[in-house]
Amino acid sequence: MDVTFRIRRYNPEIPGKDKPFWQEFSLTGVDETDRVLELLHRIKWEQDGTLSLRRSCAHGVCGSDAMRINGANKLACKILVKDVGDRIQVEPILGLPVLKDLIVDMEPFFAHYRSVMPYFVNDSPVPADGRERLQSAADRAIFDDSTKCILCAACTTSCPSFWANGDYVGPAAIVQAHRFIFDSRDQAQQERMEVLAEPDGVWRCRTIYNCTPACPRDIQVTRAIGEVKLAIRKGSTSGIIDPADIKIATSNS
Ligand code: FES
Repeated sequence: MDVTFRIRRYNPEIPGKDKPFWQEFSLTGVDETDRVLELLHRIKWEQDGTLSLRRSCAHGVCGSDAMRINGANKLACKILVKDVGDRIQVEPILGLPVLKDLIVDMEPFFAHYRSVMPYFVNDSPVPADGRERLQSAADRAIFDDSTKCILCAACTTSCPSFWANGDYVGPAAIVQAHRFIFDSRDQAQQERMEVLAEPDGVWRCRTIYNCTPACPRDIQVTRAIGEVKLAIRKGSTSGIIDPADIKIATSNS
């Protein structure tokens, strides 16, 4: 089949291309099971070597090729032609500064990520027998979903609250905070909740729900944000989540 791409281009170093513009490319011999990433490679390698995009693993693991495909945030390596049709519009994710073509500056996104202390905190001595800090399967299940995040920014850059205010910490950072706030072994949940209780924290979320369908890992992002809001309202995580409910949600997904 033939496919036409319409790609948002921008190159601040080339006069005439230093304002965003659209460019079309035609490809022949495309299979409906080809991935959008492969076709962008074909354009770059066969037609225009200056086309710039990020990618690494090509298997939906590294999170580097999030882009807006036919108006929705996707990983180019996970989307097949049959998912989007023979006219494919590609543009950079929204809300972050564009550096060149499909490449955005991820630093504001990672600054929000760092602000929620996305690492395990526990200053207690390790158990005397030298074993790991143990946790029940039920306690582990509470934050299992939020461990799946690959930091592709698809959720945060699909959020109108983030588009309107780049200081908003954003869905991805809240998911990362959720992963540790609800970890029974962690000791910094109060500090994280204080960060997220700030004006640009979790209350900027208006439950618009763009983030959940944008997640390529099917994380229930809006649910995680709701649980963090509840925890902040209560001042603690205890009793907010019934592990039995988590089991039901997991087995239904
Ligand atoms: S290239 Fe790694 S997630 Fe797509």
